[in-house]
Amino acid sequence: MRASTARQAADPISSAPPYDYSMARLVDEAGIPVVLVGDSLGNVVLGYDSTLPVTLDDMLHHTRAVVRGAKDALIVTDMPFMTYNTSVEDALRNAGRLLQEGGAQAVKLEGGAFVADTVRCLTGNGIPVMGHLGLTPQSVHQLGGYRVQARTAGQARRLLDDALALEDAGAFSIVLEMVPGNVAQAVTERLTVPTIGIGAGPGCDGQIQVLHDILGLGARQPRHAKRYADLNAITLDALRAYRDEVSARSFPTADHTTESDAAVVAELPGADG
Ligand code: KIV
Repeated sequence: MRASTARQAADPISSAPPYDYSMARLVDEAGIPVVLVGDSLGNVVLGYDSTLPVTLDDMLHHTRAVVRGAKDALIVTDMPFMTYNTSVEDALRNAGRLLQEGGAQAVKLEGGAFVADTVRCLTGNGIPVMGHLGLTPQSVHQLGGYRVQARTAGQARRLLDDALALEDAGAFSIVLEMVPGNVAQAVTERLTVPTIGIGAGPGCDGQIQVLHDILGLGARQPRHAKRYADLNAITLDALRAYRDEVSARSFPTADHTTESDAAVVAELPGADG
């Protein structure tokens, strides 16, 4: 069987990053096999306008919560901005913390050939690494915004070289974010490790989407994300109904309340009968 045919026959990997215990439990129960604790939590959970302010402590905190919720999935956690860029030693120490203190099973970091030595060091020390190419959100200011990457022949060639460098350094999988579909497919076919696309078309080995985008729970709706539910609307309806029932004193009712024996209340001081 040719590699591309074998790829098509394989079950595509799905992934959606939960950021807390409750969502991790649901993602796991849905049978999603790869759980990424993404630093996109900076945008969708912490309210920043980029992932740059996310710290290692933020990632440790959220990774621990996700680990408590996801029992079966492979748990990969993002290395935040400037936790692997300053030196290979820093990267090893910080990735080690994400596994040892956070409970993750692998880390993801952004960048191509220039992080290959870091990836080699981590994988050499038993830390599985997922790469991330194309639109790398931690470089948003250098890229000039959140836009499709690798559109020209030269950029597509660089993307392939970066992917091959990551593979050679030992990355077990590579995220391709916002890359033209035909470029993502061509890169995928030239790699032995699986690619996971986000806004990179159906030719990748798997797909990842920000959980809040597919559940309709966020403020934004990127073109590449499909809304499988409108949790904004469902949640608002539920919260308004709750507010109204509390105002109208129709919640809570006897069904939601435990009563004590009347004698217990009668014995309380201060009751005037
Ligand atoms: O931070 C994140 O959630 C990600 C994925 C969307 C790839 O990096």
